Amino acid sequence: MSATILDGKAFAATIRDQVATHVARLKADHNITPGLAVVLVGEDPASQVYVRSKGKQTVEVGMASFEHKRDADISEADLLALVQSLNDDPAVHGILVQLPLPKHLNEDLIINSIDPAKDVDGFHISNVGLLGTGQKSMVPCTPLGCLMLLRDHFGSLSGKDAVVIGRSNIVGKPMAQLLLGDSCTVTIAHSRTKDLPDVVRRADIVVAAVGRPEMVPGDWIKPGAVVIDVGINRIDAPEKGEGKTRLVGDVDFRSAVEVAGAITPVPGGVGPMTIACLLANTVTACSRANGLEEPEGLTA
Ligand code: GUN
Repeated sequence: MSATILDGKAFAATIRDQVATHVARLKADHNITPGLAVVLVGEDPASQVYVRSKGKQTVEVGMASFEHKRDADISEADLLALVQSLNDDPAVHGILVQLPLPKHLNEDLIINSIDPAKDVDGFHISNVGLLGTGQKSMVPCTPLGCLMLLRDHFGSLSGKDAVVIGRSNIVGKPMAQLLLGDSCTVTIAHSRTKDLPDVVRRADIVVAAVGRPEMVPGDWIKPGAVVIDVGINRIDAPEKGEGKTRLVGDVDFRSAVEVAGAITPVPGGVGPMTIACLLANTVTACSRANGLEEPEGLTA
């Protein structure tokens, strides 16, 4: 039996449509245009690709996009001043500082200088605390996208055994909080977990977010389990020709698809959901800032 493929690309397109509808309403009824500011420090090629894609999709759903590019040697004081100016700018409803930052900049300090109400990444310590205590917050985009895929597939997640592999602040920990919020029994596994295959085999839901190409084989998956693959790893693909590469997830798709009940592909699974959820968070932040009704179904 082959698993149902969870099509994140198509789902992300429906989310963008919902965001665009809400943006049009904010403009027509309230003369408000939601705005997203993205700060990119340095020349990291992967970050440049992400930022370009974010800017393009922001404009496509009718929002204003503000890009602030700074040299890699910017001082911490100058970057803090830039964030403060965006905090103070009424046309900016969402602020994203692209990570990673160059080593001389204190990432925690910069992230925690963002106005929590504009923190569309959900990385500010206030939002982390609000999420952990089950209060209304800004929710990190990748875990939010995974949650939407799971809710769409299952309806209710209540009582499911979920394993999150990876304990990062960006994905693993907030993912576990969201699953707990939906009444799953949650295990967070990591590099020191004893007998990882056995832990994974007990799960109805597996979220793999470790950044190691194809490390989860199909024989770790419980038959019928739902597998969410957050990994985006570029590996050599000599079969495609010399010097060629291809993208793979943290799960060995070929073996896992034979065992799982449903699975996200890489590419085309979780990846497109992340930017769609960033747009959703921006329109949510804009609605909250103006005391208006939030778009339904676009928040946790
Ligand atoms: N770098 C890679 N992914 C992300 C993300 O989701 N947000 C930010 N700010 N930086 C990233």
